[in-house]
Amino acid sequence: MNSKKSIGAAVIGYGGMGGWHTEKIKKIKGLSLIGIYDILESRRKAAEEKNIRAFNSQEELLSDERIELVVIATPNDVHKEIAIAALEAGKNVICEKPVAMNSGELEEMIAASVKAGKIFTVHQNRRWDDDYLCAKKIIEENMLGRVYNIESRVQGDRGVPGDWRNRKAQGGGMVLDWGVHLLDQMLMLKKDQKLISVYAQLTFVTSDEVDDGFKTMLSFDDGTTAYVEVTTSNFVKLPRWYILGENGTAMIEDWDLSGKIIKVSDWENRDAVPVLAGVGLTKTMAPRTDDTIKKYKLPKVHSDWGAYYENIVAAIKGEEKPLITHEQVRRSTKLMEAIFESDKHNIVVKFE
Ligand SMILES: NC(=O)c1ccc[n+]([C@@H]2O[C@H](COP(=O)([O-])OP(=O)(O)OC[C@H]3O[C@@H](n4cnc5c(N)ncnc54)[C@H](O)[C@@H]3O)[C@@H](O)[C@H]2O)c1
Repeated sequence: MNSKKSIGAAVIGYGGMGGWHTEKIKKIKGLSLIGIYDILESRRKAAEEKNIRAFNSQEELLSDERIELVVIATPNDVHKEIAIAALEAGKNVICEKPVAMNSGELEEMIAASVKAGKIFTVHQNRRWDDDYLCAKKIIEENMLGRVYNIESRVQGDRGVPGDWRNRKAQGGGMVLDWGVHLLDQMLMLKKDQKLISVYAQLTFVTSDEVDDGFKTMLSFDDGTTAYVEVTTSNFVKLPRWYILGENGTAMIEDWDLSGKIIKVSDWENRDAVPVLAGVGLTKTMAPRTDDTIKKYKLPKVHSDWGAYYENIVAAIKGEEKPLITHEQVRRSTKLMEAIFESDKHNIVVKFE
């Protein structure tokens, strides 16, 4: 293809995230927004009010030859059928997360993309979040020595939103909603290690039909453990990231990158004068004195989410491979299935 020509893009599903994609596409060099389709007339009208062309049907959109890229931002249960229709119409596809309801659906989508010879990838945008990039830098640059435990949490206090996220048949629940982001991030942090086992519990504090949260313990073959938790009824939040290394601890409090690193400067100096704790004395838990620890600010990171779409443009032109690969989304989809299985039978699931 002519590498100077801009790539026509369209969005199917013009709700919260569909609206977000249209605004982003307008700003990305090399892309031009051709239009949207939404099943609801009110949403098509909303697009037209913003001077965005609203197609009257999915078929009409897919038969427009100017469109080379389709972004799917509908509820999760219809991702598969729309993605396959778009691929069969010769379009490249970005699908919102979670890409599919299960591995079986995902394999059908991948097969359709291989058959069509078109790009099929997923919007795992939280790989560009500052907090994740900060955790990644701390771990990859060995700032804490060998990291042996990574905890990643997102905690809210509003329960599950009252839309399709509350309905099982539409792919609701927090494992599929926020879980997929946190699990994808954790698997990227441990992309070179095998995930040996998974233990998980779902929560149903404020909802019956779908999980309103979950916690899972992951064990990797290098001895690292990871804890991933999503909750929706916590009125006091724990830190977003808590990372334990042999020489120190990092705490990333929130998305705004508040937090700190504390490292031990003198491991030999273990003994302490016993201190009062509760109604007893303790030597083990006596706080360290300032001369044996050092406090650091969290490292600075530079996040550029635009790189996501720039990579897609380059991939469509045949210049790069998509950053979010089939193998990566297979792994995170299987991990979500292992989480459901572990919870259902209260067992540790052997994974890789
Ligand atoms: N990556 C992220 O940061 C992020 C954030 C929020 C949502 N999402 C994902 O985006 C997707 C949409 O979520 P949302 O919050 O925008 O939902 P939403 O309910 O706000 O919007 C979904 C839209 O899809 C439309 N729709 C439903 N079925 C359709 C069909 N068959 N054809 C065309 N349109 C259809 C609905 O009418 C609605 O306007 C979900 O997969 C969700 O998980 C991703």
